[in-house]
Amino acid sequence: MTGPAPILFANVSKTFFKHDGTPFFACRELSFEVKAREIVAIVGETGCGKSTSFNMLLGLQKPDVGDIQVLGLDPFSESDALRGQVGIIFQSDRLLPWRTTIENISFGLEVLNIPLTQRRQTAGKWLERVGLKGFEDAYPHELSGGMRQRVSIARAFAIEPKILYADEAFTALDELTAERIRKDLLELIRETAITTLFITHSVSEAVDIAQRVLVFGRPGCLICEINCEENRAAGKSTHEIEQLIRQGLRVAHKTMSAEGAGEGVATDEVVRAEGSTSKGREPI
Ligand SMILES: Nc1ncnc2c1ncn2[C@@H]1O[C@H](COP(=O)(O)OP(=O)(O)OP(=O)(O)O)[C@@H](O)[C@H]1O
Ligand SMILES: [Mg+2]
Repeated sequence: MTGPAPILFANVSKTFFKHDGTPFFACRELSFEVKAREIVAIVGETGCGKSTSFNMLLGLQKPDVGDIQVLGLDPFSESDALRGQVGIIFQSDRLLPWRTTIENISFGLEVLNIPLTQRRQTAGKWLERVGLKGFEDAYPHELSGGMRQRVSIARAFAIEPKILYADEAFTALDELTAERIRKDLLELIRETAITTLFITHSVSEAVDIAQRVLVFGRPGCLICEINCEENRAAGKSTHEIEQLIRQGLRVAHKTMSAEGAGEGVATDEVVRAEGSTSKGREPI
């Protein structure tokens, strides 16, 4: 029996305002879901609303209309109940510069009020798991970019979350380092069978990691989805699957060009709906 999808977007629209006060859509009628233990990638042109959809998943911003559920909860109004259930890896590592490696890894555990001894033990386990043994007491400025990203991966997993989000986790790294860390992260994802949603600009990274790839168009909507697993089972090569995604991206680009600047002008109806707040919470 399969339960409800851990991540659910149903007809979600979100508007922002330009400097002159004109509203525009960042997401428009966006619907998709991620099933339990699935690994799903989002690809799409810059500015098409990928991070905005993540911010709404994180409860940092509220959709104007539509329904978002994470583990059956509204991430905006029920964010407290979701604390500790979601691990996040960002493009920039977002480590606390005044904390050592071990202290950074245990940060989430501290927020969850896990006792010190247990915190140290769990953080130590994850530190080793990401290959940073010996760097327990190093500060972020003493680590390379790749090592810092490893710390943020360990920090995300240390809380044993049910869901993992990653927003362009490897973009800031050189290709070789990115490849190594990507491989290690995929191993961790498979090992923990964690439901994963990640954003990437790399089509090959998407095919490498994801079972399913969502192609976003602008303003934030689903153009198509490519099921990598099914395509592989049907005999398609990695190259052919990548081509399918690139085709989707071309369709998305054409759709965007057909809409002019690509930012759909929001109607009054959406702007007014549900109090229409385009202001969200400050990122933590
Ligand atoms: N807080 C905000 N206020 C106003 N406009 C915003 C805000 N956040 C995002 N936008 C705009 O919404 C649109 C979508 O932005 P978003 O960051 O979601 O895109 P993205 O797909 O993540 O892009 P990228 O690939 O460059 O990271 C863009 O036009 C962006 O300028
Ligand atoms: Mg983004």
